[in-house]
Amino acid sequence: MYVLGIESSCDETAVALVERGERNAVLNEQVKSQVPLHAKYGGVVPEIASRNHYEVIDYLTEKALEEAKLTIDELGLIALTQGPGLIGSLLVGLSFAKGLAFANNIPIVGVDHIYSHIESAFIEHPDIEYPLIALVVSGGHTTVFYQKSKFESEVVAKTRDDAVGEIMDKIAKFFDLGYPGGPILDRIYKDGDSKQFKFTQPRMSDGSGDFSFSGYKTAVIRHPIAKDIKTDSQVFKDLISSFLHSVVDYLLNKTTAAVEKYPVKSVIVSGGVSRNSLLRKKFQDEFAGSRVKLYLPSPQHCTDNATMVAWRGYEKFIKYPDQDYADFYLNTYSRAHFRESKKHR
Ligand code: KG4
Ligand code: ZN
Repeated sequence: MYVLGIESSCDETAVALVERGERNAVLNEQVKSQVPLHAKYGGVVPEIASRNHYEVIDYLTEKALEEAKLTIDELGLIALTQGPGLIGSLLVGLSFAKGLAFANNIPIVGVDHIYSHIESAFIEHPDIEYPLIALVVSGGHTTVFYQKSKFESEVVAKTRDDAVGEIMDKIAKFFDLGYPGGPILDRIYKDGDSKQFKFTQPRMSDGSGDFSFSGYKTAVIRHPIAKDIKTDSQVFKDLISSFLHSVVDYLLNKTTAAVEKYPVKSVIVSGGVSRNSLLRKKFQDEFAGSRVKLYLPSPQHCTDNATMVAWRGYEKFIKYPDQDYADFYLNTYSRAHFRESKKHR
């Protein structure tokens, strides 16, 4: 079956064509990043984001079909991100996908962005065994899940404040380094000495295993040496290196604690921050030779992409073929919709 995936939850318009079933293959991937449009603001501007999705989504879809040498009537399924994300941006994807589906009589399925990030590990590793622990680290989320199976999930730990990618973006913005901050700090830390500064891993006073990252951000930007610091100085590189090592150790500690608590066979780390070179190295070292196998998506499938959406959509469609897939709405994780949204993973 040919599946068209559409992702427009934040600042990437992404379209992908995949083949699923007897043959599993990525046929075409289009990603139009809006980074240059938002860079001068140091973060995503929702109105600019939705307008740009609207401008490029049909063109990207046509381009993907053309390059894959497929026509719309050959599609067996359309999968799209229904949330969480920016409401205007999601609406562009939803309206486009629904129009395309209804006009051409193609089934449509909405998927959750976070579970699609977990699914991204299966694109290159179809044989990942359950049960598993999944750490999703992105610009909007930092969550550890226990997955008994693909559709049975439990939240083990989540951030109580900022997401880990968000603090990287905010730190980079504070020091005028550019946007998004994650890849920039990923370059800077390499020339620094991580032993020069000490960062304490936060602990929840109520004893829960949740994360907190806002203290890290404050510790960096309010550090006594941070005032008037030159970002090309050695001391700045040392500061970023010490910070990043501590943050990655913190993520690793929470993940290994979950691995000890649950009877798992595999660990997945996904989401934009899983592109980070230090994170990948530390996790790979930790699980090398372990009975629990670690899976990291390829770098292009860590950050937002539509292949993970198409992959997840197909799984959901096969597992629950009788759902009325036309009758869904955006999953913005608002309180009113939260209970209902659990059906829409
Ligand atoms: O998954 P994603 O593309 O979008 C969300 O769902 O949020 O993640 C974006 C986040 C941004 O915060 C960005 O700074 C971060 O991923 N990121 C990185 C790296 N590449 C992207 N963080 C650390 N190191 C990287 N190499
Ligand atoms: Zn994402």
